[in-house]
Amino acid sequence: MLILGLETSCDETAAAVVEDGTRARSSVVSSQIDLHARFGGVVPELASRAHVELIVPVVASALDDASVGFDDLDAIAATAGPGLIGALLVGVSAAKGIAVARDIPYVAVNHLEAHLYASWLEAPDLAVPLAVLIVSGGHTLLVAVDAPGHYRVLGATVDDAAGEAFDKVARVLDLGYPGGPAIDRLARTGAPDAIAFPRPMADDGLDFSFSGLKTAVLNHRRHHPDTDPADVAASFQEAVVDVLSAKLITAADELGAATLVIGGGVAANSRLRRRVADLADETGRRAFLPPPELCTDNAAMVATAAFWQLRASGPSPLDGGAQPNLRLPERT
Ligand code: KG4
Ligand code: ZN
Repeated sequence: MLILGLETSCDETAAAVVEDGTRARSSVVSSQIDLHARFGGVVPELASRAHVELIVPVVASALDDASVGFDDLDAIAATAGPGLIGALLVGVSAAKGIAVARDIPYVAVNHLEAHLYASWLEAPDLAVPLAVLIVSGGHTLLVAVDAPGHYRVLGATVDDAAGEAFDKVARVLDLGYPGGPAIDRLARTGAPDAIAFPRPMADDGLDFSFSGLKTAVLNHRRHHPDTDPADVAASFQEAVVDVLSAKLITAADELGAATLVIGGGVAANSRLRRRVADLADETGRRAFLPPPELCTDNAAMVATAAFWQLRASGPSPLDGGAQPNLRLPERT
């Protein structure tokens, strides 16, 4: 079964061909970082226009890289939400057009569910239950995966997402956009224990809060403008990693999960990856850390999620639109 996936929820135009839900035959990601960088963040209208220009060549190169044509496809999938409405509509419309023209099923994929499935692409033999941490620019979720297609949300952020905190702190430190990778790089030369930033809600269930931490960094910068930015970056990152990793372990303990998985853009963070790997070793668990290109937005994860969704509930109706505020549903 060959599925072409499309991803246009934010500032990446991506297309990928995935075989049987597990093998990525191609994965093309065209990033709009240069387009938005001078504005310090994603400009929705510019993103939509860029997706319109890029979607056809990106699909063509995904098919080309996989050595397949439209005739070989069994289904076509697109991210239908959450994300920027104008951006989402480009992928959804393109996918529906291909579905009608080629008479193949269309699958509307939840972007968060796609991040959740990214791990099955590289490691289809993961032992369930899994404790999964999804940390992206818009979301921070702890999820229990009982089997492919069956999961429960255990915790979420009550305010800012982890990636949002990275991006905002990067702005305070004048590191530009996107902030996460810039903080990750700068933090390598700083001391993680230089500043004792708060660990919000550290011992308080499985929900998260990052807005107070962001404000603490802002206040520190105001009162101590001469502190080395590398120390601020490293100390902030350490606080985020402490909270994320502690809650992931608590969730794994509660579930009796032998496998820890991380996903979403912040899962590309080198310090978080190291910590989760170390904690897995210490607690006799397996850590599955998808390669950074599968953590950040891509279309291979969309095609993989579509494979399982198609099996469980069949194609999506062609009259369904894009849903900017879509949440991760419970599938028990
Ligand atoms: O999953 P993603 O590509 O897009 C969304 O669905 O939001 O995540 C983007 C987020 C941004 O906030 C970005 O700053 C963050 O992931 N990010 C990182 C790193 N790479 C990307 N945060 C920390 N360290 C990184 N290395
Ligand atoms: Zn994402």
